Amino acid sequence: MKPEPWWDEFTIEAEPTDRLLDALHYVKWYKDGTLALRRSCAHGICGSDAMLINGRNALACKVLVKEVAPKVTVEPIRGLPVLKDLIVDMEPFFEGYKAILPFLINADDPPDRERLQSPEDRARFDDTTKCILCAACTTSCPIFWGDEQYIGPAAIVNAHRFIFDSRDQGAEERLEILSDQSGVFRCRTTFNCTEACPRGIKVTKAIQEVKRAVMFRRF
Ligand code: SF4
Ligand code: F3S
Ligand code: FES
Repeated sequence: MKPEPWWDEFTIEAEPTDRLLDALHYVKWYKDGTLALRRSCAHGICGSDAMLINGRNALACKVLVKEVAPKVTVEPIRGLPVLKDLIVDMEPFFEGYKAILPFLINADDPPDRERLQSPEDRARFDDTTKCILCAACTTSCPIFWGDEQYIGPAAIVNAHRFIFDSRDQGAEERLEILSDQSGVFRCRTTFNCTEACPRGIKVTKAIQEVKRAVMFRRF
């Protein structure tokens, strides 16, 4: 049987400019080696250490101790099954990501050089290229908490990245996928996703653009 969740408390010393990730490492290395958390780059790039920090989704490697001291509460991100401590099962999240076909689709023969694009066309989807798939947006969305079938903001952001790419030819297919009942219209414009994004992506704006593309087939 799955054990009941519990809270644990640790007191440590840390420098104000240490990152919260450093503090968690200290706990793991010197206080309780069983503490389970994901992290890799420690520089806000890999997206693996999203967690609920004092009630808000953030990356532990991007939060300084002085921003949360003297006391901080960390929890696993919400809406995904907890595997252990701060580690959740990311599979349902990546299912949504895979569903929107997150790769360039173009049936034309490759040109001799790269597929050219004007700076204006590139700017159209620049914001959504910044996603690091940390899941902070999707797991801050109340619609996703209540319905894990909802494809979620991260998947829509990554669909946006290709739908508005002038070199891509898969927009119709993606818009069809996003127009079903678990798709983009489940979003109620709550904005939690935009607030949670550690990359500063205008997530709700991207979702609105995808909604309009579904309705008017303009992209
Ligand atoms: Fe993370 Fe932002 Fe990408 Fe969402 S849109 S997965 S919050 S980087
Ligand atoms: Fe959820 Fe963001 Fe929409 S929080 S409801 S996906 S604006
Ligand atoms: Fe890679 Fe924080 S450890 S983003």
